[in-house]
Amino acid sequence: MLSAFHPKLLRANFASLPPPDPTSFQDRTYIVTGANTGLGLATAKNLVALSARRVILAVRSQARGDAAVHLIEQETGRQGVAEVWLLDFASFESVTAFAQRVDLEFQGERLDGVVCNASVAMETWETVKGVEMDVMVNVLGTFLLSLLVLPRLRSSARTTGQEAYLSIVTSGAGFFEKGTLEQIKEKGVLDLVEELSREGAEMGYCITKLMQIYAVRELAALLPDDESGVVIDMVSPGLVYTDLDRHGSLATKLSLKVMRAFMGRTADVACRTVLHGVSAGREAHGKYLSECLIKEDFVPEWVKDEKGREMQRWVWGCIVRHLEAVEPGCLGKALGR
Ligand SMILES: NC(=O)c1ccc[n+]([C@@H]2O[C@H](COP(=O)([O-])OP(=O)(O)OC[C@H]3O[C@@H](n4cnc5c(N)ncnc54)[C@H](OP(=O)(O)O)[C@@H]3O)[C@@H](O)[C@H]2O)c1
Repeated sequence: MLSAFHPKLLRANFASLPPPDPTSFQDRTYIVTGANTGLGLATAKNLVALSARRVILAVRSQARGDAAVHLIEQETGRQGVAEVWLLDFASFESVTAFAQRVDLEFQGERLDGVVCNASVAMETWETVKGVEMDVMVNVLGTFLLSLLVLPRLRSSARTTGQEAYLSIVTSGAGFFEKGTLEQIKEKGVLDLVEELSREGAEMGYCITKLMQIYAVRELAALLPDDESGVVIDMVSPGLVYTDLDRHGSLATKLSLKVMRAFMGRTADVACRTVLHGVSAGREAHGKYLSECLIKEDFVPEWVKDEKGREMQRWVWGCIVRHLEAVEPGCLGKALGR
């Protein structure tokens, strides 16, 4: 088991992060989810500062989005680049409406990168439409959006001749969950989403981060970048000073406070890892990125070996079954088949 104090993870938090290449983002267009605060806001602000043409802040509150745009404009001196589009991952209708807007507004327009950054870390039991909230936001909402924007990312890459990016902000905390999914699968569970949404089930942010890691690896394997022009990757930003623990218990908040004081990064520095995720080049496809580097060696063997690949296909199958029920044919359209 890889714990929070594993030397690799500890060292990763102390690595200094190189500033982004200013030419990589010039005149490009990006969507950043959860961009009203924390890492998403820092990423959107830096994209604007790095001369992006258009940065869409995909957020669930107009007022929080407007405040973020105001701050970005003040701090970068660039007006009219950042804009707010509403998106709530706790609602499939909101995700599909957002994706329809992307489809319409980006017809014939470049879309260089979608950063799926928004996540929640719940410690109290909450469900939406029968799905546990972390699973809904971090997994189903995130991958429904991912599948629905892939056709536009593919067409952008085709038109511009430059790779487009789908980058998922995940966490090495997923690797703390060795054994959890195995135990569930070995019980003969058919539907992981339903199982994790059963009251009293094992719950948690870290499980959803492991599900994201498996899902990115499988989706990238299904859609090779040389076929689509889209680099699908995942980024671990390290421990960051944000409000991610807002739903946490006092004990969680206190322990994170201590850990952040010891090895936390500011969002402004940590977002360099996210910017790397949307500029890392073809070799990043399907890979785990950390410290602005491809860090496949951080992915444990139990994820990469044959049993891990079998788990990956199972997790992905469980996710896709739910997404196809919401939007029939979404996987085929995403893959262009
Ligand atoms: N902070 C860390 O130490 C750390 C470490 C590893 C990985 N990460 C990852 O970094 C990413 C960003 O997290 P953060 O630390 O910046 O946390 P944060 O400050 O809590 O930001 C989370 C963002 O997600 C949005 N969000 C939550 N539920 C949503 C929903 N239903 N629909 C749409 N947006 C929703 C939030 O919007 P509202 O403000 O409206 O709630 C907020 O904009 C996450 O994927 C997280 O897993 C963070």
